[in-house]
Amino acid sequence: MVGLGVGLIGTGYMGKSHTLAWNSVAPVFGDVERPRLAVLAEVNQERADRKASELGFARATDDWRSLVADPAVDVVSVAAPNEFHPAMAIAALEAGKHVWCEKPMAIALPDAERMRAAARTSGRVAVLGYNYIQNPIVGLIRRILDEGRLGAVNHVRVEMDEDYMADPEAPFSWKSEARSGHGVVDDFGVHPLSLILVLLGGVRRVCGHMAKPYADRPVAGSGRRAVETSDIASALIELDIGASGILAVNRAAGGRKGRIAVQIFGSHGALAYDQERLNELQLYTTDLPPERQGFRTILSAPSHPPYDRFVPAPGHSLGFNDLKIIECRALIGRIRGEATLAIDFEDGVAIERTVDAIARSAGVGGWVTVADR
Ligand SMILES: NC(=O)c1ccc[n+]([C@@H]2O[C@H](COP(=O)([O-])OP(=O)(O)OC[C@H]3O[C@@H](n4cnc5c(N)ncnc54)[C@H](O)[C@@H]3O)[C@@H](O)[C@H]2O)c1
Repeated sequence: MVGLGVGLIGTGYMGKSHTLAWNSVAPVFGDVERPRLAVLAEVNQERADRKASELGFARATDDWRSLVADPAVDVVSVAAPNEFHPAMAIAALEAGKHVWCEKPMAIALPDAERMRAAARTSGRVAVLGYNYIQNPIVGLIRRILDEGRLGAVNHVRVEMDEDYMADPEAPFSWKSEARSGHGVVDDFGVHPLSLILVLLGGVRRVCGHMAKPYADRPVAGSGRRAVETSDIASALIELDIGASGILAVNRAAGGRKGRIAVQIFGSHGALAYDQERLNELQLYTTDLPPERQGFRTILSAPSHPPYDRFVPAPGHSLGFNDLKIIECRALIGRIRGEATLAIDFEDGVAIERTVDAIARSAGVGGWVTVADR
């Protein structure tokens, strides 16, 4: 059988990560055909040609619409900025292609709903880039929760912090433009929400707050430009299971490099995980005598699938791009009819509804029910 033909739109940070995943998924997992890197699209032909040569794609174009119509393409990786996700994903689905679209799904809830409708109509597989749920340690957390080891979960706290916009003199980019969305809620908040969704289920209501630490940022060679999005957001949340929670996200958090700190508390234990130490889980359970109770550290190991597909030895660590390879295998599995773990466009809308509720709540300054829109 011939492997899937891949079309890639956008070759920045995420375009490269998708390419590494498409290249590695067959050798790592050993149970799928090697995908073909068919064609990539960029903003101009010079950049497209250069990136095709670097990344190993057979052809390059400056017109993403020709890519989605290309018969050599079976699946489209959408790794362009947020504002383009709806048009690109919908066009690809309408052309009969499967879609792997980066988060956030869209910058406005109605767009996400249009994407979901296109996926339903097409019957094609459409999944989103929520790589953090693919960590084998997160799989272990799911099993611990499913087995009830923490008892009744009553509180969750998730914080996502990075400092790439902590410097007031960090240059203005598309992430500070309103056309990229609300700001850090779309940029970061969706990741914690994806973790909450797969670990604990949906969010019932929220009370949000969004902040802009810096009013403007420098534009190369032309003064300063007003920042249109929020770099800090916080929300009190209440889950469908009744647990209370806190979500705090900040892309101007000095010193934090890649923190996604998850704490889950239950009647019989607690756990803590941080993406900055993505191969470790801190677990506390009350089933030991009181004098031996305390958090213990579990290192990722072959007993936490699919870690075993990467390394046969425990404690040797996976990294960020490995999570993308696992996500790629989940996507191919969906195409083959397997019930793999992935955030598809149905789940994606649930996340976008919560984002929309946080933004509405911040606007009115009070609690908002997620289902109310
Ligand atoms: N899943 C994750 O962990 C994660 C991490 C970072 C970014 N992202 C998401 O990935 C997407 C891309 O972010 P990035 O950090 O890779 O951005 P980036 O700026 O590094 O790359 C974007 C690329 O898209 C290209 N591009 C822009 N408009 C285009 C168009 N019309 N046609 C073709 N190419 C176009 C740009 O030239 C650039 O090469 C964003 O939606 C972002 O939210 C996800």
